[in-house]
Amino acid sequence: MLTNKPKTKILVDGGDPEETLGIKSLLGFVDGQTTNPSLIAKNPEIQKRLAAGHLLSAQEETDEYKKIVQSISPLVGDAGVSIEVFADLDSRADEMLAQGQEMFTWIPNAYVKYPCTHEGLRAAEMSVQKGIRVNMTLCFSQEQAAAVYAATKGSKEPVYVSPFVGRLDDRGEDGMDLVRNIKKMYERGDGHVHVLAASIRTIDHLLCSFFLGAELATVPNKVLQEWAAADFPMPDHDFTYKAVDAKGKSLKPIAYKDLDLNLPWESFDLAHELTSKGIQKFVADYQSTLRRSA
Ligand code: E4P
Repeated sequence: MLTNKPKTKILVDGGDPEETLGIKSLLGFVDGQTTNPSLIAKNPEIQKRLAAGHLLSAQEETDEYKKIVQSISPLVGDAGVSIEVFADLDSRADEMLAQGQEMFTWIPNAYVKYPCTHEGLRAAEMSVQKGIRVNMTLCFSQEQAAAVYAATKGSKEPVYVSPFVGRLDDRGEDGMDLVRNIKKMYERGDGHVHVLAASIRTIDHLLCSFFLGAELATVPNKVLQEWAAADFPMPDHDFTYKAVDAKGKSLKPIAYKDLDLNLPWESFDLAHELTSKGIQKFVADYQSTLRRSA
């Protein structure tokens, strides 16, 4: 059991209530949970149905997603459960908002996940005005994080932004730098956006997230098990992060940019290849569970 609870809130990155329960007994607590279409497609109940030859209708998939988050909801603390809208590259803000409004009613501690795209940002802007908590996902650039800040200014609830560390590492860039840069940029802000380190692949990612003061980190079961097996190490004051990939090759640093958080959110360049790829991957994983309608 973890006795020295870090300041960074720990969320489970998964889609299986049984797994969340197991992690809760491993750590003694779970602050929150993040889900996404890929993780829901991997849920054991959904996988069982698929293995038995039952593809789901879109409505059944939504119903399953709702059941899953309703089981997870009471297990977690005040960081809530993030539920992701089903969006493709053509999804409009009002369609995402309609889904988000519905999903927000599923559980009392919901955060609605929208992608860091122009339409996702528009949906988020409208959501926070309606009191819907949001988690802006697939964040790969400081510009996107600046836009999240500007679009959600005035939100009464904390807004989450999720920089995806591992996926930047995967293409040779130092994903932890993005977390560092966003934290630095937000020092000049009003604190309404909390940084949620996501796509965490290693104990080092987790420790560096603590060290950088990320408000939250979402962590897959595998990394939490490894952390527990190593007896929950914590970063010390002179912690240094080795920015290398799995083969020991150095990751390319991501330079800090001086961005003005007071600019209108539409003025930031939101384009990032990995955001588009990420949306396409979520669509593909979601589609893989679906029955083709005639
Ligand atoms: C969480 O909100 C993200 O969807 C998740 O961390 C993505 O992780 P991955 O890059 O391992 O898919």
